[in-house]
Amino acid sequence: MISEGRLSHYDTPASRWAGVGPYYAMFPVSFATDAVKEYTKPEDCVFDPFAGRATALFAAASEGRFGLGIEINPVGWVYGKAKLQTAERDDVEQRIIWLGKKAKNYRAAAKKLPLFYDYCFCPKVKEFLLAARALLDWRRNKTDWTTMALLLIDLHGKRQNAFSNQMRQTKAMSPQYAIDWWKERNFEPPERNPVEFMFKKVAWRYAKGHLDSGSGHIYLGDCQSILNLWEKHPPRMKANLLLTSPPYYGVTDYFYDQWLRLWLLGGPERPHSNRALCKRKFSNKKHYTSMLFNVFAKSKSLLKQDAVVFVRTDARQFTREATIKTLETAFPNKKIRSEYFSLPSFSQTALFDADLESKGEIDFVMW
Ligand SMILES: C[S@@+](CC[C@H](N)C(=O)[O-])C[C@H]1O[C@@H](n2cnc3c(N)ncnc32)[C@H](O)[C@@H]1O
Repeated sequence: MISEGRLSHYDTPASRWAGVGPYYAMFPVSFATDAVKEYTKPEDCVFDPFAGRATALFAAASEGRFGLGIEINPVGWVYGKAKLQTAERDDVEQRIIWLGKKAKNYRAAAKKLPLFYDYCFCPKVKEFLLAARALLDWRRNKTDWTTMALLLIDLHGKRQNAFSNQMRQTKAMSPQYAIDWWKERNFEPPERNPVEFMFKKVAWRYAKGHLDSGSGHIYLGDCQSILNLWEKHPPRMKANLLLTSPPYYGVTDYFYDQWLRLWLLGGPERPHSNRALCKRKFSNKKHYTSMLFNVFAKSKSLLKQDAVVFVRTDARQFTREATIKTLETAFPNKKIRSEYFSLPSFSQTALFDADLESKGEIDFVMW
């Protein structure tokens, strides 16, 4: 069982893995765990079509339920996959040693990276990261998605504790801004032996073990397309709880903010705005509303008739009203109640955005 108290002591496998990894607008773990325990029984299924880093699915798995979800952003997906289907520690350590040996083959490529990378990472780290980027089969191989998730966590963050020069852990800075900022402060990239650095991180993460694999599954892709497929070929498992937090209207671009981690996953060397509407900030009201309606309506094929629907979202007017309207249209036979949280401790975005903090989040529960 995870509760805030236990989490702070990191004395269970779930408490060590729940925090994988830095993302944006995540559910507080205790919130997801409480919702799972309140609305489901052991062996029930919890569905999250906007899974993010799979907080809801992991809470379900660690409480003896099955977590099923979809996430469009590969960064969130890799974290989720590593938490739900975790490789053994020995395998991950072997893979890190192997990458350490291969790294020298990437010396020439490391020298050709844009200037940003020279200011961000020391030469040994650049070579190691390029080896990981080229050689880890993170979409298909359990050892590789687990290794990749553990690499992504500390790719950037506080200088003392990350591969990178000083940066936020949740969001990568734009390259020129970062270079200017580091130059002004004479910040050099930290010297690291990447294999030793990763071994310490792995030792901490695995110190209490990990969850048994097989109690959850997360798909990579657009939930609208996957739900379309499931409408025609419904999965055998039906969910007892839809627990989700859709992207908020006009707030975050999950692809742009994660550009450096997406680079490590094989993406471009520089940030770029994605053309696909679901891969950038939602700023078209009509598209946002129809996306929400589509997802809620199509999720019905996956839900038991008496399933509870629990949606946490931004309390600001447009997102709030679009969410109520689409939920009520998609589930006309369910009752709805809502609860508004303005307290910072309840807010999943408050720490990073003062404006959001003052608006808070709102929960809708339907049954
Ligand atoms: C508010 S976050 C959810 C965070 C999640 N509750 C957690 O604890 O990590 C919304 C997520 O929806 C994802 N998303 C946006 N559009 C999507 C789509 N069409 N299909 C699947 N995921 C999508 C975003 O990438 C983002 O990770």
